[in-house]
Amino acid sequence: MNPAHTIDLVVLEDYAALSRVGAARVAELFRAKPDAAVVVATGNTPMGLYRELAAKRAARVFGPGELKVFQLDAYLGLAPDDPRSLYRWTKEAFLDPLGIQPQQVVKLPGDSPDPAAACRAYDDAVVRAGGFDLAILGLGPNGHLGFNEPPSQPTDKTRVVSLSEASLESNARYWGGQGRVPKQALTAGMNVLLAAKEIVLLVSGAHKRDVLVQALAGPVTPDLPASYLQTSSKVTVLADRAAWDEHG
Ligand code: F6R
Repeated sequence: MNPAHTIDLVVLEDYAALSRVGAARVAELFRAKPDAAVVVATGNTPMGLYRELAAKRAARVFGPGELKVFQLDAYLGLAPDDPRSLYRWTKEAFLDPLGIQPQQVVKLPGDSPDPAAACRAYDDAVVRAGGFDLAILGLGPNGHLGFNEPPSQPTDKTRVVSLSEASLESNARYWGGQGRVPKQALTAGMNVLLAAKEIVLLVSGAHKRDVLVQALAGPVTPDLPASYLQTSSKVTVLADRAAWDEHG
């Protein structure tokens, strides 16, 4: 643990500005490293960034042909074409709009007959890629990163997890009710995420305010996995004013 690392916190006026600035940053990285390995979150927060990024791709600001894209998490037991599949969400929001080809994608197969082996294969693929160049992450209401639920250790590998009550509740809004949220998931591990050469954490909305303060300025603890970002080397937090009000 190295508390000397500082997190670069950028506060934007609103969600639209957050999405624009986030996309500019990601596009810049893709231009500088066309074969970057990137792990991408689903959830609501990055959707604006992905739309902006797709526009930049269409304007040929960067070429997506050599990127390697890793799925961040997956519900256990769902086929990739299930309407709730996070692969499907990633495909519709990121892969297809950017023109990423199937051979450029490393999935977390939620419907694998051997999920533990699938998680090991994923970590092996991360190693082969030389680690993540970029992680685009959202912040869970309980401080989770991916589905690294509290408590999670910084050394935790990619694995099968049980979703916490808080995550079942927050994911219910995606699928129209808590009964439709699978209770277990596969998540990229804390260790591979924290080792990313660059992490962009996107946080929007007043409901994230308390957890964001805890993550950035509270104790570094397994009970709030995002607090380990304080120990990572290059973290940029893009927050809108609703999520981080310097005056409030
Ligand atoms: C999504 C994911 C989650 C979300 C987090 C925030 O793939 O791994 O960690 O990033 O729950 O979700 P939103 O952005 O919907 O508030």
